[in-house]
Amino acid sequence: MALPDLAALEADARRELAAASDAAALDGWRTRYLGRKGRLTGVLRGVRDLPAADRPAIGKGANALKGTLEAAFDERREALLRGASVAQAAASVDVTLPARSLPQGQLHPVTLTRRAMEGVFREMGFDIVEGPEVEWDSYNFDRLRIPRDHPARDMWDTIWIDPEDAGGPAEGAEPPPRRLLRTHTSPMQIRYLETHRPPIRVIVPGACYRYEATDATHEWMLTQIEGLVIDEGVSFPNLKGTLESFVHRFLGPDLETRFRCDYFPFVEPGAELGIRWGGRWLEVLGAGMVHPEIIEAAGLDPERYTGFAFGMGVERFAMLRYGIDDIRYFYANDLRFLEQFRGSAT
Ligand code: DAH
Repeated sequence: MALPDLAALEADARRELAAASDAAALDGWRTRYLGRKGRLTGVLRGVRDLPAADRPAIGKGANALKGTLEAAFDERREALLRGASVAQAAASVDVTLPARSLPQGQLHPVTLTRRAMEGVFREMGFDIVEGPEVEWDSYNFDRLRIPRDHPARDMWDTIWIDPEDAGGPAEGAEPPPRRLLRTHTSPMQIRYLETHRPPIRVIVPGACYRYEATDATHEWMLTQIEGLVIDEGVSFPNLKGTLESFVHRFLGPDLETRFRCDYFPFVEPGAELGIRWGGRWLEVLGAGMVHPEIIEAAGLDPERYTGFAFGMGVERFAMLRYGIDDIRYFYANDLRFLEQFRGSAT
């Protein structure tokens, strides 16, 4: 009996495998060579019928060839799969199409307005500083002459960080300090005075928070710009001139303005500035002469140093600037609203 010709078998197998170009051809090849009735399987089965002297060499060779052909099969199958997915991708992707554009971000209308307001104040010689949004009650209230239990605290409904001490302070002791989300930017007046000496001329832009129901003109989060000017000889006319100049530069030179008395615990006297807008008077900011007790508490002689302070809402000015009639649009995150400010200048 002729010995099986493993070399010829391998040559046939390799040639046919190289020619197999789809799944069906691959399958057929495997059946023909490695299947139950395949050529190589036949050789392996026949080894036991060979003369004893030939058995080891042929058996070993056939086994090795089995491994070789299985590896060649896997390799060929992978190559075909890879080729197919490349061809598929090439058919479904038109690489000549222009790229899809990514949505491009833009500045929020309140940010645009804040920056524009800052620009006007900068031209008028103000520095810009910022303070913490999480604040101690002493800065937000007490040192601004709004003591605990003072009815003026009702002007600012507060979101507290620290809970009210459940047991209450021991008899005669100071109540423990509590943190809150600042209800206004005025606490920065106190902080700034801790580290700076006159002449002082700064504005403090930043977010403030109030625990109150929202409506068309109130939000629980708002952006304020605080102003503080302290020097020798600063007078109420300086306050009026500065703030009138600001609204004229920001909203228009022909704008009618009026000052009226208002109460804020940290100024004396206090005032509000109104503008004539759409045939009606509209209050746009609070202001006043810095209270002498605050100047004194800062270690300055109130006989020598005087100053004024003011606070205004940026959203209010953004509404005037863009003709928006509901403050709640700003933070509703509706792109149909926000995208209208694309390309707007600061
Ligand atoms: N902090 C006040 C508020 O949030 C606004 C204000 C009024 C600020 C008078 C001032 C000021 O600096 O002098 O309602």
